[in-house]
Amino acid sequence: MTGKMQALLGWVDARFPLTKMWKEHLSEYYAPKNFNFWYFFGSLALLVLVNQIVTGIFLTMHYKPDAELAFASVEYIMRDVDWGWLIRYLHSTGASAFFIVVYLHMYRGLIYGSYKKPRELIWIFGVLIYLALMAEAFMGYLLPWGQMSYWGAQVIVNLFSTVPIIGDDLSVWIRGDYVIGDATLNRFFAFHVIALPLVLLGLVVAHILALHEVGSNNPDGVEIKKNKDANGIPVDGIPFHPYYSVKDIVGVVVFLIFFSLVVFFSPELGGWFLEKDNFVPANPLKTPEHIVPLWYFTPFYAMLRAVPPMFSSQFPGVIVMGAAIVVMFFLPWLDRSPVKSVRFRGPYFKGALVVFIISFIALGWLGTQPAEGIYTTFARIFTVLYFAFFLLMPWYTKADPTKPVPERVTFK
Ligand code: HEM
Repeated sequence: MTGKMQALLGWVDARFPLTKMWKEHLSEYYAPKNFNFWYFFGSLALLVLVNQIVTGIFLTMHYKPDAELAFASVEYIMRDVDWGWLIRYLHSTGASAFFIVVYLHMYRGLIYGSYKKPRELIWIFGVLIYLALMAEAFMGYLLPWGQMSYWGAQVIVNLFSTVPIIGDDLSVWIRGDYVIGDATLNRFFAFHVIALPLVLLGLVVAHILALHEVGSNNPDGVEIKKNKDANGIPVDGIPFHPYYSVKDIVGVVVFLIFFSLVVFFSPELGGWFLEKDNFVPANPLKTPEHIVPLWYFTPFYAMLRAVPPMFSSQFPGVIVMGAAIVVMFFLPWLDRSPVKSVRFRGPYFKGALVVFIISFIALGWLGTQPAEGIYTTFARIFTVLYFAFFLLMPWYTKADPTKPVPERVTFK
């Protein structure tokens, strides 16, 4: 660094902890040297978050949050705004990519026990991020004011009317009207473009601060801080920058290849990323034949429909759907295993994990099918298996025969 640059940096450092933060979070943040494929998804989630914010800002410049104008303004973006089609497809593909990346990121947490002590708060912030992300995606989906936007929102907001006693008032309060209308569109717009992104950003900062406080877990589940050299540096740790900052770029390039293939060649991805019905303007007088949310919500939608109504109220289904997410918060305390990583766990945990993943994917598919006959039967079975994974965990993780965890990480 030239003398002048050094002087400038010194001036800044005397007033703002720039070098201190750089060291703490990058050049002197020691991460385990055995990170693998599964460790790409945290930085990829950050990348997608930035993509959503940047493309979202440009969409907001041309979009009109008005029930009379919204649908046409999206068509205007697609046809007349320079590069508008690209901005929109980057944003719509980014929404699905976000969930793909986050689901893989959560799966990594599951297999390596990254939610276990001392990382409970990283996990809890993660589940809060997941909740905020679902709210963000749900509200964003109303904005194009297509048939699915309208009817999807109608179905979901109506769920609040199943709450005993206050339900009807609650759903009117949320909508700002007796049906989904202009007032709903305006408030969802406000939440989607400013309130929830702020919450998301705040939670992501908290998530990473909590991570850097305790240090990263790794595929062996070995605590690298327990084994330090004379300088206090973990012997199995390497500085995040430049080692992982460079490695993460490889992940970014591979991700962008797949992402671009979708954006440029199949942005609707056969109805999985953008639904056919949403290219038809919202019509409050015509209900679509099947109202199906986008794929990332369908596991929970399947659970909602699997639960039989009680006194002709869908409230029990709503409770089960909510419980499916709330139960995730308790994971750190449900897992009683003495080991973290799946590598040293026994057959009970591995079996339970396989059944859980199959159930979650099956529920996702069942959520796209009509809620009748054999589909409902299977949705009930998989809902029970989903909950069994969590609720039986204290028992099967304790009884599971585990293997001894090595002192040092395994690294080839
Ligand atoms: C916007 C969404 C999210 C972003 C940007 C994000 C970002 C990150 C980053 C950058 C890391 C460190 C790198 C890595 O370990 O991959 C990380 C770690 C972690 N995240 Fe997230 N995350 C998000 C959502 C979630 C969710 C939804 C969960 C779980 C419910 C979660 C749980 C974890 C855990 C447990 C770790 C520590 C992993 C370990 O050390 O093995 N994250 N996150």
